[in-house]
Amino acid sequence: MGGLFITIEGVEGSGKTTIANILAQWLQEKGLKVNLTSEPGSTFLGSQIREILTKGSERTAWAEAFLFLADRAEHVTKVIKPALERGEIVVCDRYSDSTIAYQAFGLGLNLEQIFELNQIATNGLSPDLTLLLDVPPEIGLARVQKKTVFEERELHFHQRVRWGYLWLAQREPERIKVLDASLNLEIVIAKAKKLVEEALSRWL
Ligand code: TYD
Repeated sequence: MGGLFITIEGVEGSGKTTIANILAQWLQEKGLKVNLTSEPGSTFLGSQIREILTKGSERTAWAEAFLFLADRAEHVTKVIKPALERGEIVVCDRYSDSTIAYQAFGLGLNLEQIFELNQIATNGLSPDLTLLLDVPPEIGLARVQKKTVFEERELHFHQRVRWGYLWLAQREPERIKVLDASLNLEIVIAKAKKLVEEALSRWL
């Protein structure tokens, strides 16, 4: 499609947002056109969905899944796909793998159905590279200052999310690269840059 699509995934407090920001700036400094974005909440409708998701508490698991999927459908159509068509590098903080990890593994929704719904919501658009920042949830959660309904969930939920991510990484080792995010930030950044550089050399 022209552009390069990179996603960053991980449990709460894994450092995704920090890494996404640093990578985006580093790519811009190379003179590349970068579109830094995140899920949920990067469209007009998405920002309203995000409010519901992070502030509300009681809801069925499927209602939650469909809200994330609705946010993604908007995001792909209005932000990600147009940027890729313009030949830009899209760096996205969370994407489809989050719904597999959180709603299928975390909440126990049917895995095949979530895969299929992701396929529908994204129109089959899969990232070229996914950096999975892996950290034990006890360490990640301890780093989080501002807690939403997600961080308030029991530790076991977050452990299942982590297993979900690691399962995905085993299933798609070419796309999903696991980084040990319990290490010093500088080390994680260096490893992330190396993986992005490899993706860039295949793309450019
Ligand atoms: P956000 O404040 O953006 O958190 P973070 O900085 O950790 O990404 O809130 C997003 C929350 O939504 C986060 O706790 C993970 C969760 N989430 C899902 O459960 N499923 C999804 O598909 C996505 C995209 C996010």
